[in-house]
Amino acid sequence: MLVTDFIENKKQGKEHTSEDIQEFIKGYTNGDIPDYQVSAWLMAVNFQGMTDDETVALVDAMLHSGETIDLSGIKKYKVDKHSTGGVGDKVSLILAPLAKAAGCVVPMISGRGLGHSGGTLDKLESIPGFNVKLTKQEFIDNISKYSLTMGGQTKDIVPADRKMYSLRDVTGTVKSIPLICGSILSKKIAEGIDGLVLDVKTGSGAFLPEYENTRKLAVQLKTVGEKFGLNVKALITDMSQPLGNAIGNWLEVVESIDVLKNKGPKDLTEVTIALTAWMVVMSGIETNFDKAKKYLYELLANGKAYDEFLNMVKNQNGDISYIENPDKYKKAGYINSVKSQSYGYIKTIDTHQIGMTALALGAGRRVITDIIKPEVGIIFKKNIGDLIKSGDEICIIHADTENDFNQAKVEILQSFTLSENPVEVPDLFYETF
Ligand code: URA
Repeated sequence: MLVTDFIENKKQGKEHTSEDIQEFIKGYTNGDIPDYQVSAWLMAVNFQGMTDDETVALVDAMLHSGETIDLSGIKKYKVDKHSTGGVGDKVSLILAPLAKAAGCVVPMISGRGLGHSGGTLDKLESIPGFNVKLTKQEFIDNISKYSLTMGGQTKDIVPADRKMYSLRDVTGTVKSIPLICGSILSKKIAEGIDGLVLDVKTGSGAFLPEYENTRKLAVQLKTVGEKFGLNVKALITDMSQPLGNAIGNWLEVVESIDVLKNKGPKDLTEVTIALTAWMVVMSGIETNFDKAKKYLYELLANGKAYDEFLNMVKNQNGDISYIENPDKYKKAGYINSVKSQSYGYIKTIDTHQIGMTALALGAGRRVITDIIKPEVGIIFKKNIGDLIKSGDEICIIHADTENDFNQAKVEILQSFTLSENPVEVPDLFYETF
């Protein structure tokens, strides 16, 4: 295959063969095909798209670009969840121990935050001592022993994605639906799971904010995932405002503890319960979604989910004294509240901007080498639909310095639009596929 022909074909909207896709991804992974040719191809895919068959071939080629995790020695059903990401999305921290408490086997490989959306690994690493850097064998051993492990991707798992994601990030091709499918599904299938629950976010803080695109992604993730024999459930959930109240790594851990103790924010609790419920149904533990939800609420109320969180932290070398007493954690240098300067009902929140503001405070990273400040972030006190008056507290900013606070305050106030008339609260759940 001539790489220039391959690129030209996609540019003209022609369909690739599986063999050509395999050869291309292999050549890229081993360094035979340079970044500039792959960049041109990524842009062609961005505009021309890919058929489901091509996307299946892409996932397959990426999956086989490196090692996979063999969990076939564990006879029980293995299930995971993946979110397309958002602001304040700490669901995995709650869902994984909750699912374990319900009897699921959860091998979870997560990512780091990049851009406006946070990453589960950074949140876990804000717990002193917590080890997410497990070798493949440690990951397998942990799953066999504890039925639950939350770790990071090793460099040998789907190396094609690591290379290609960095390239997409700098070539304006991150938002291509087949490329997202290739990236997410190859990594998830490499985990050796049987079932996958997908939280596909829509709204101003989502990766793909417009509903039409979110829906296309959800459908393609399900269709392609199922071609690999994976049982897939995809839920479209709201990201038009931050999920829960807390944004920032340690602040999100604390909010997760609240949910696990059954005293967390309602939206975060409901989204977590719904996603976990599908994991419970897929695993054959409960026969239907409503029964699974009821069971999961019981596990929050009776402390079993919280106990599993403590066990997980202990098993991965985390210091549980910080979980038992979150107040002993290092505080941010300058903590103060932002007060409203206007009157009205909150109509919209630019959640992407809120994510960028949290990033600028030090809660996220612009490039993968940036160092995160785990203690900084924002705690929201208001949501879409709330009536605010001048002087009402909108949020509390945990900043490093007063300067950082002042900058964040301006950005947050600009992120809200208000209405004189009452505003409808957005739905939390849209379609389920
Ligand atoms: N998450 C991923 O892992 N990959 C993408 O391409 C987008 C979101």
